[in-house]
Amino acid sequence: MAHPPHASPGAAVAHAAESRWALMVGAIILFLVGMIVYMSLHWAAMPPVRTETIDAGTLHISGEFVETNLGSTLEPDGTVMVRVLANQYSFTPSCLLVPKDTEIRIRGTAADVVHGFSVGQSNVNLMLIPGYISNFRTKFEKTGEHMMPCHEYCGVGHAAMWARVKIVGKAEFARLAAGGRRLSCVGQ
Ligand code: CUA
Repeated sequence: MAHPPHASPGAAVAHAAESRWALMVGAIILFLVGMIVYMSLHWAAMPPVRTETIDAGTLHISGEFVETNLGSTLEPDGTVMVRVLANQYSFTPSCLLVPKDTEIRIRGTAADVVHGFSVGQSNVNLMLIPGYISNFRTKFEKTGEHMMPCHEYCGVGHAAMWARVKIVGKAEFARLAAGGRRLSCVGQ
């Protein structure tokens, strides 16, 4: 003869175990939902302060990313500022010239869609997003030349979108950059 469901001790143990697991799963779900709510409120209340925006539609005409302002310059404090612009399907300049053993600051943006780049054998890795300015600081310890491919899929020409980075000696860079000239290694 079959026992009624709650009459056997086994059924009571199973019921208790199931209740425990249901409580635990419920608690995990509540914790995750709580985390999402907290993070949403946190980000809404305190957006990242260093976000810099730019109008992607007019950056060719005026402002920091006009063509004559792109490339590398030696700043008065001895650091080097590199400005780079991404377009389907090229970077401007297509070869970045930088000195070794120097703090390099890179500022970049995109004019059309999301692009990005990394530089071989270095920690340089940026996304370039229309409407935003991306910043990166780095230092190169050796002279040489590295590939700088676009690493965000940006359309049919993505695979052919790349530039180069050429690292020269500090003294050579200083000589070339004298008088505030903007440098690149396009055509070299
Ligand atoms: Cu630009 Cu991929």
